[in-house]
Amino acid sequence: MPLEVLIRTVTEADKSEVLAVVRDAFSVGNADGREEVEIVESIWSLDCQVPAGDLVALSGGEIVGHILASLGSLSGVVIPGIAPLSVRSDCQRQGVGSALMATALRHLEVQQFPFVVLLGNPTYYGRFGFRASGPWGIHYLPVGMNNPHFQLLQFDEDCEVLTGEYVYSWEVQANAQP
Ligand SMILES: CC(C)(COP(=O)(O)OP(=O)(O)OC[C@H]1O[C@@H](n2cnc3c(N)ncnc32)[C@H](O)[C@@H]1OP(=O)(O)O)[C@@H](O)C(=O)NCCC(=O)NCCS
Repeated sequence: MPLEVLIRTVTEADKSEVLAVVRDAFSVGNADGREEVEIVESIWSLDCQVPAGDLVALSGGEIVGHILASLGSLSGVVIPGIAPLSVRSDCQRQGVGSALMATALRHLEVQQFPFVVLLGNPTYYGRFGFRASGPWGIHYLPVGMNNPHFQLLQFDEDCEVLTGEYVYSWEVQANAQP
């Protein structure tokens, strides 16, 4: 049964609750969600979110999910990357992740980005139209060349896809430091 949610942009007042949701979603098995929390904090501190790409899903006034798209780089061109997508563990498999992704993709498409990338489970993200990026010549080197988990969704199929190594927003900044 889908959970009815309201989706809106993150506000300053939401931030600690968002981090708690991210930590909770990624605390699976031996993982404690710290890496994903640090990614969100880095993006916020660098202020490199895509406009309208930092979204929460609310149910009963509580934050139950979050998605974050930020401005990474592919061969010097600004390309959005989605990371992370988090749904509170007690609200998973009720359509919240799908609703957040659908809204984020609409917001990215109207901003006329040629495509968006992410790293994740191909079975899950395939349902939104994501495909392995390797055949397009786009790689995310931390997970190795042609890793099927690194995926791309084209908004305009006639648009020429760039090739090269993708660098997420927080990595662009880290690489730029002396
Ligand atoms: C993955 C995640 C974002 C999906 O959000 P969700 O709200 O639970 O998913 P939805 O309700 O929109 O979609 C449910 C469908 O996705 C599938 N699904 C959910 N999580 C999945 C996963 N990790 N891998 C593959 N499929 C998954 C379910 O089997 C279900 O399929 P069905 O519709 O055929 O039954 C959420 O489960 C989550 O936060 N997980 C922990 C953190 C995480 O793994 N984030 C993604 C990083 S790539």
